Amino acid sequence: MILMAKPAKRTLIATVEATPNIALVKYWGKRNEERILPMEGSISVTMDEQLKTRTTVMFSEKFKEDEAWLDNKKLEGKELGEITKQLDVLRKRAGVGLKARFVSINGFPTAAGLASSASGLAALACAGAKALGLELSEHELSVLARMGSGSACRSVLGGFVEWKRGEREDGSDSHAVQIAPVEHWPEIRNVIALVGEGRKKVSSRAGMRQTVATSPLYRERIRTLPGTIKTVREAILKRDLPTLLEATMRESNNMHAVMLDTWPPITYLNDVSKEIIHATHALNESEGKTIAGYTFDAGPHANIYTTQEHVPKVRKMLEGIPGVAKVIVCGPGSGPKYLAGKQEHLIDPVTAEVRRHHYDAKSNKIVVEA
Ligand code: PMV
Repeated sequence: MILMAKPAKRTLIATVEATPNIALVKYWGKRNEERILPMEGSISVTMDEQLKTRTTVMFSEKFKEDEAWLDNKKLEGKELGEITKQLDVLRKRAGVGLKARFVSINGFPTAAGLASSASGLAALACAGAKALGLELSEHELSVLARMGSGSACRSVLGGFVEWKRGEREDGSDSHAVQIAPVEHWPEIRNVIALVGEGRKKVSSRAGMRQTVATSPLYRERIRTLPGTIKTVREAILKRDLPTLLEATMRESNNMHAVMLDTWPPITYLNDVSKEIIHATHALNESEGKTIAGYTFDAGPHANIYTTQEHVPKVRKMLEGIPGVAKVIVCGPGSGPKYLAGKQEHLIDPVTAEVRRHHYDAKSNKIVVEA
């Protein structure tokens, strides 16, 4: 009798750490809600590991349904739906029907409402593809991440990144490309000022839909965006700080103007955010040149772009403003990182159980308990 050796079963698990990105030219509005296709392109910088999201994805016969946890909380409903949507695309592509577990934790110095969906969904695309052994290009990973959350498509790449609007109806050409790597301008910094309560009143998804439907000013924004994108892209390539910062501030103001022009109006900035806007202009005025440029997403926290040499001045300015709760200085980051060590997975590869894990703010590390 010939004994046939059973083929060894591969463990379909992967862990990735991805970082958020902060846009210089903002994405605000879709032309296709279902496929998450933007009205226009956008440009961002991927942050370094000061802020990171670790995500483990595992596919197994042991699982009866898809399950997901974020920051040790089990996800349900819409939040789980976002994850399942991406998992379905991966399964279809790999030709497998296995259910999955998704476990993700944000390693952010505070839970004050910093944008984490971009890093989480970029990490999901990369970890999911890796777990299934799919060799996807950056272009394909970016398309996949986009389907979870638009801005996530930019976190698949490091450095200075542009999300191309694309033309095709199926969305296959709407993805991020790298304008320049970190090494092109490593001195660039984002000084983040956390101001008060971070929870959004209106989600970005609902807010942008409302803007597209009701704001007459939005048409003007769409008309001028291609020019802004060109200015910002060229300023990055030339490392022209004053041009980059002025375009960034004008662009943030423009997005918040169309938010206010939305009916009923949407406001994300609070009094402290506005104080930061005026203080930045005063700082530039006193310096006699533009050394700092603010930008705000769908929330009150400020992101102040500058270069390393000016960080002390920007920090001093922020620390003089009552209501600034915390300042975090981020450099540019090089994109998602695959963690190969077995101990780093948030799921035990043998038992498939979720491992106990937490974020240690003191060391800024994600700790997986044995
Ligand atoms: O991808 P979403 O739905 O989280 O939208 C993000 C939109 C902004 O953060 C406001 C702008 C941007 O381009 O990141």
